[in-house]
Amino acid sequence: MNKRVNLFDVERVREDFPILRETVNGHPLVYLDNAATTQKPQAVIDAIVHYYSHDNSNVHRGAHTLAARATEKFEGARTKVAEFLNAPSTQQILWTRGTTEGVNLVASSWGRSNLKAGDRVLVSAMEHHSNIVPWQMAAAATGASVEAIPVDETGTLDMTALNILLDERVKMVSLGHVSNALGTVNPIEDVIALAHKFGARVLIDGAQAVSHWPVDVQALGCDFYVFSAHKLFGPTGIGVLYGKRELLEAMPPWQGGGEMIERVSFEGTTYNQLPYKFEAGTPDIAGAIALGAAIDYLNQMDRTAAAAHEQAVLEYAQEQASAEQGIRLVGTATQKVSVMSFLVEGTHPNDLGFLLDQQGVAVRTGHHCAQPIMEQYCIPGTVRASFSFYNTMAEVDRLFAALRKAREFF
Ligand code: ALA
Repeated sequence: MNKRVNLFDVERVREDFPILRETVNGHPLVYLDNAATTQKPQAVIDAIVHYYSHDNSNVHRGAHTLAARATEKFEGARTKVAEFLNAPSTQQILWTRGTTEGVNLVASSWGRSNLKAGDRVLVSAMEHHSNIVPWQMAAAATGASVEAIPVDETGTLDMTALNILLDERVKMVSLGHVSNALGTVNPIEDVIALAHKFGARVLIDGAQAVSHWPVDVQALGCDFYVFSAHKLFGPTGIGVLYGKRELLEAMPPWQGGGEMIERVSFEGTTYNQLPYKFEAGTPDIAGAIALGAAIDYLNQMDRTAAAAHEQAVLEYAQEQASAEQGIRLVGTATQKVSVMSFLVEGTHPNDLGFLLDQQGVAVRTGHHCAQPIMEQYCIPGTVRASFSFYNTMAEVDRLFAALRKAREFF
């Protein structure tokens, strides 16, 4: 076992996550659906309860103490996110409802004002639907087209093909940092450099990446980076869009309403400065504060040791899968994180998912909102076990014991 793993006291860390003490169908829970959503440490749960118990108020517009307190904590959370991503300014951190909304905001606002007939948008063949469909909608409105960068049998992005696909008509390359269906870690540094050479903008969908390692948007040089709090041990319903200042400044507002205006009149309305220009309506205040608490939680951790432990758990699981007869791993790229997608001979993923759940093991089954790559592989979907730093080798053993038992039914 990797020496670093010993630095990471997984049993201690598990105590921070109350849900990990649940029993499901009479068995201690083995939660292996972290790519769908991560569990929440007590500190995040406490932040939500504390906010509603002590600080609840609307932000930015109240003349009273609670409003000031809520605003301070809400904007404090934005500062934590800016530091977390190493963004140059909090004005470049926009609250969204999640990754999907972040992509939709860019595709709609930037896309409709920058794309025209004949322009091209590149996404990868293994993208989540939320990084395909918003671009298809923008393309339908502008006459642009959306094309897929090929992905090989192992789930690796074809960089040679990307090189060939790129030309001056490509205005946007929108790519997942990590594939939710396969676990592939894309070489986004290379993609960003290459796309920029052709004058294309780059959006990175970081939903499956931010929980695994620190992200530095300035070092990456990407134009947009989006993620969801709930994949980062925070709550659902809140996410982040980072964008380069000059792009955000030039983009038209997306939704109209309160907060996003400077002055409203029937003769004409002017818009607020960044980031508020893109934040119409009362935001998810508690969610933002809780995301801040999740970031605080991660910051007090040895993230390198946590990542090494998580990687060791993934490798252990993949070794077990390879040793087991009749299991086929789907997604075997050299650079992988967290996700083990697989098929078991003679079984349907959905049946297996049910039988695993009966034994307390939570996995996701199906196409994982990535139908194009499933179609390319000619499979209906997979069983997906996705790991976090709080998973253990013993839980991997439980997964395989449960699988063996489930296979007796077929
Ligand atoms: N995108 C999430 C997943 O992969 C929901 O499960």
